[in-house]
Amino acid sequence: MDLTGKKILITGGSSGIGLEFTRQLIKRSNKIVICGRDLDKLKKAQKDLPSIDYFQCDIADDEQQQKLVEFVQTHHSDLNVLINNAGIQKNYSFTQLESHIDLIDEEMNINATSQMKLIDRLLPLLLQQHEAAIVNVTSLLAAVPKQSAPVYCASKAAFRMFTQALRYQLESTPVKVFEVVPPLVDTEMTKGRGKNKMSVNELVKEALQGIEMDNSDILAGKSKNVFFLKRLFPKRIYAMIRNG
Ligand SMILES: NC(=O)c1ccc[n+]([C@@H]2O[C@H](COP(=O)([O-])OP(=O)(O)OC[C@H]3O[C@@H](n4cnc5c(N)ncnc54)[C@H](OP(=O)(O)O)[C@@H]3O)[C@@H](O)[C@H]2O)c1
Repeated sequence: MDLTGKKILITGGSSGIGLEFTRQLIKRSNKIVICGRDLDKLKKAQKDLPSIDYFQCDIADDEQQQKLVEFVQTHHSDLNVLINNAGIQKNYSFTQLESHIDLIDEEMNINATSQMKLIDRLLPLLLQQHEAAIVNVTSLLAAVPKQSAPVYCASKAAFRMFTQALRYQLESTPVKVFEVVPPLVDTEMTKGRGKNKMSVNELVKEALQGIEMDNSDILAGKSKNVFFLKRLFPKRIYAMIRNG
């Protein structure tokens, strides 16, 4: 897929991986719209990258998401690409016997349900374009879990399965469906944990190369090795990721 001259909405585009997508896609002459909850982060991104447009929105709040969709329909009806990148990760144990109900709802909603809803709402617009794409950012942890974040792993596994089935449904349309599967990447989300993290620059470079080559399942960096070795040495790979 050609990634120049496109109109692209990036959820969570004001920091980390999303901000790097924004930077690298601007360099390829695309027009970028970002959204996120924190207005200061959105304003800072626009100060650094004046060509972007932004919309403050918690995608997990249905009313706010509907307003984002109306904003895009009104001001960016030429949208070609939706990058579902927003995400959170909570680390806790179900053995701590306080209630985790709110945390479960929040993480499943932000990482999976709300992104499926956003796709549902924006698909009519994308289907009108000559060439369009949905890019979903999942995780290596969608395939091999770590013990400290069971709901995160479940939310990413759900989004990965959704992405694969959606691809089947859209295969005879102009909308291509891509999945980016990052390993551990050096961002705010992973601050203070893990070693040998992939840089956002390298991750996004690989992701964009994958999209340009129409590689629908982009296993970035170490994700490639983990997916391959999981088939040969499942016990070792599960043990390696378990405490990651
Ligand atoms: N870093 C890693 O090692 C890693 C590995 C695999 C997958 N991933 C995935 O990559 C994506 C980006 O993560 P990151 O590492 O770049 O984390 P990050 O730096 O914490 O960025 C997350 C972004 O998502 C936005 N966001 C979170 N909840 C939102 C909501 N409800 N509505 C709108 N925006 C929301 C945040 O903005 P606000 O806070 O302003 O809302 C922020 O811009 C996530 O989906 C993550 O699960 C990351």
